Amino acid sequence: MGGPSIYTCTPCRRRSDKGPEDYHKPERIKKEKRIETKSLYERLGGYDAIAAITDDLLAWLLNDPQFVVFWKGHSENSLRRDRQLVVNFMCEAAGGPVFYTGRDMQTSHKGLGINASDWEVFMRHAAAAPEKFAVPSPERDEVLAFLTSLQGDIVERV
Ligand code: HEM
Repeated sequence: MGGPSIYTCTPCRRRSDKGPEDYHKPERIKKEKRIETKSLYERLGGYDAIAAITDDLLAWLLNDPQFVVFWKGHSENSLRRDRQLVVNFMCEAAGGPVFYTGRDMQTSHKGLGINASDWEVFMRHAAAAPEKFAVPSPERDEVLAFLTSLQGDIVERV
């Protein structure tokens, strides 16, 4: 007796309660492959979606009193240039057809004195921005994990 059996294909680890003909159905494999091969860039909605999320995040950061010090002395045009570099950086990192021509993260943030508290506020804004645009949680988590991976290059003081 007991509950329904779960059949598992040993090499590919596909599982089904109906048997091998179900877990090896061509439609099912085709669908899985399609999902697996989509880049984060595509899953986020491409260039326009990434640019919109980035703009929302940057607008927040430009107005947060804790961050005003970082933009002091930057012309409007310099801010636009930085914005474009951030969009390109994110698009390239997500696997999009964009080539980032800016400096690496350590070089471009060295000497700014970004500390752990700045980073915490940044990550709070960063976590809220995709939520506003209804980005599904796997993609949101991937973006946040990627941003977290940059922390060591950007934060200077504890
Ligand atoms: C606490 C968080 C952060 C602060 C306060 C901050 C601040 C800044 C500032 C002030 C600049 C201009 C530097 C200059 O003109 O010399 C800059 C440049 C830049 N930042 Fe950040 N940043 C932060 C996090 C990030 C993150 C997480 C990314 C990546 C997604 C990023 C990507 C960039 C890029 C691509 C540039 C331009 C690089 C270049 O000019 O070649 N920043 N950032």
